Amino acid sequence: MVVTNIPENAPAHCPGPDTEQAGKASACAGCPNQNICATTPKGPDPAIPLINERLHQVKHKLLILSGKGGVGKSTFTSQLAFAFASDENTQVGVVDIDVCGPSIPKIMGLEGEQIHQSMSGWSPVYVQDNLGVMSIGFMLPDPDDAVIWRGPKKNGLIKQFLKDVDWGELDFLLVDTPPGTSDEHLSITQYLKESGIDGAILITTPQEVSIQDVRKEIDFCRKVKIPIIGVSNLYNEGESHTIVTI
Ligand SMILES: Nc1ncnc2c1ncn2[C@@H]1O[C@H](COP(=O)(O)OP(=O)(O)O)[C@@H](O)[C@H]1O
Ligand code: SF4
Ligand SMILES: [Mg+2]
Repeated sequence: MVVTNIPENAPAHCPGPDTEQAGKASACAGCPNQNICATTPKGPDPAIPLINERLHQVKHKLLILSGKGGVGKSTFTSQLAFAFASDENTQVGVVDIDVCGPSIPKIMGLEGEQIHQSMSGWSPVYVQDNLGVMSIGFMLPDPDDAVIWRGPKKNGLIKQFLKDVDWGELDFLLVDTPPGTSDEHLSITQYLKESGIDGAILITTPQEVSIQDVRKEIDFCRKVKIPIIGVSNLYNEGESHTIVTI
């Protein structure tokens, strides 16, 4: 079996999260993903064809990643979304898979909004006609509520955001992620593997500790075969960022 989607934090002899030995092999002892790998059903996920069907009208899917939190991922995601949507003929979606720290509703001025359900699925919350947003932040009774979920439950929600949301025809779907390479990253790369991710944009700040972590993200992208579209190095003052295409 071809081993794919090995997370960056997996030990060297990881058998692969898709394999029958996942979470049970001796190499898995002490791996931070052991619980999720052991409990995730193996074999093709029946949701994947549904996700493919739902997203076949989405032209481009982009992930926004960073090694550290607080470096500007969500800000960048929202600014990129607004920039794309400034052309009224461009349809844009944002999905916030930072399940434990959803900040997109606040950053995009959508606090207090709620998700509605229709015959065709969950409807995103629209900032403007051509810009829809989905976040767990819309499901919390209070924005200060802590979301403490383990891997399988987070995966379930991410799956629903891809499978059950009526995104319609989109030119761009931007995926805002939590920091690092964890359950959420593993899930999104698995669920979008067949429908295709165009690439990732990595966000960092100029500090050495942040740049060190971005190297891990580059390694993760290479392992899961996601093209890196660019690295945005955000500054605190003056011109806010540069994108270096690599
Ligand atoms: N280019 C920038 N310059 C200065 N501050 C920024 C910049 N981008 C984001 N911020 C601020 O940094 C904080 C963290 O940003 P956020 O986008 O939530 O980061 P992340 O999603 O990576 O955790 C926020 O207060 C945001 O306003
Ligand atoms: S627990 Fe999962 S990620 Fe960790 S080594 Fe085993 S298969 Fe690989
Ligand atoms: Mg964020």
